[in-house]
Amino acid sequence: MNKTIAVVRGDGIGPEIMAQALAVLDRVAEKFGHTFAYAEAPIGGNAVDRFGDPLPQASLEACLAADSVLLSAVGGPKWDHAPKEKRPERGLLRLRAGLGLYANLRPARLFGELRDASPLKPEIADRGINFIVVRELIGGAYFGEHSTEKLDGEYYAKDVMGYSEHEIARIARVGFETAAKRRKKLCSVDKANVLDSSKLWRKVVTEIAKEYPDVTLSHMYVDNCAMQIVRDPAQFDVIVTENLFGDILSDEASMVSGSIGVIPSSSLGDGARGLYEPIHGSAPDLAGTDQANPIGMILSAAMLLRFSFGMTEEAATIERAVEALLAEGFRTADTMSAGKTPLGCRGTGAEIRKKI
Ligand code: IPM
Ligand code: MG
Repeated sequence: MNKTIAVVRGDGIGPEIMAQALAVLDRVAEKFGHTFAYAEAPIGGNAVDRFGDPLPQASLEACLAADSVLLSAVGGPKWDHAPKEKRPERGLLRLRAGLGLYANLRPARLFGELRDASPLKPEIADRGINFIVVRELIGGAYFGEHSTEKLDGEYYAKDVMGYSEHEIARIARVGFETAAKRRKKLCSVDKANVLDSSKLWRKVVTEIAKEYPDVTLSHMYVDNCAMQIVRDPAQFDVIVTENLFGDILSDEASMVSGSIGVIPSSSLGDGARGLYEPIHGSAPDLAGTDQANPIGMILSAAMLLRFSFGMTEEAATIERAVEALLAEGFRTADTMSAGKTPLGCRGTGAEIRKKI
């Protein structure tokens, strides 16, 4: 197959981990007889510096023209005080909206080999952590009306969290579909004891459940869910939730698995084109030190092959290579433990390529 992948090299450690992912993709292309062309799409802080815009029109067009999009991470302290429209995060949010990517799938999984990296007590971690957070990505407070105004002599700011029925219904279906392919348990997370948007959320999700009689649906308040993720993560199979709750819970979920550096994610809309990125940030303090863990980025590339291109065997080949590397005891600094062999970012990429 001939495919074009838009490549967002990003900020901080982004370019380093992306280089490793592309080298792995090239190795896969060589082995399976595919051709991958890479279209550069500068987005984030580097795009602000070069073009004065975190999502230049040409970059959005490159992503829209590509078969799929691979992104490392954007942002850094350098742009923390920039005005809103010049912040790297704005580029990412506009890209998600511009590509219509309403479903963000973030797996939380404790790799057996990385068990020591989980901060949970062994008796909790040993019950297994393997669930997916399905986060609504282009609605809610992130995309509602925002304003800051002077009222009665002081500033008043607001961000409106709103959802329409069709926005809830389409993400609920992704939640049910995802659960149907797994252990068939869907937990919908909301704050229906307080928020109107959550009451509507619960009503619509309950309605959609009728289409999926094989999936068991439960509801949980978001505060309780935050607690359950550390108390008993084994209870979860798939969690579906709105944008802001999903942002917070998915960070928590990645942390309990102890290996934020190795977890990929996908953002999908109605077509085959998606946006694939590791869930970690741009770690500016590690940039240029060859210490970053490229595994989350490389597994994001595998996810892209599987979900956007239907290349199941190619994706599995990458995943097996990563598992073999971990089984042999190679570790980057973030997952290092006693008796393991330290490897840098480039070394990890090279070792994975060797195994493909
Ligand atoms: C994430 C990040 C983004 C978000 C930021 C960078 C805008 O935290 O992908 O979870 O809040 O969605
Ligand atoms: Mg986040």
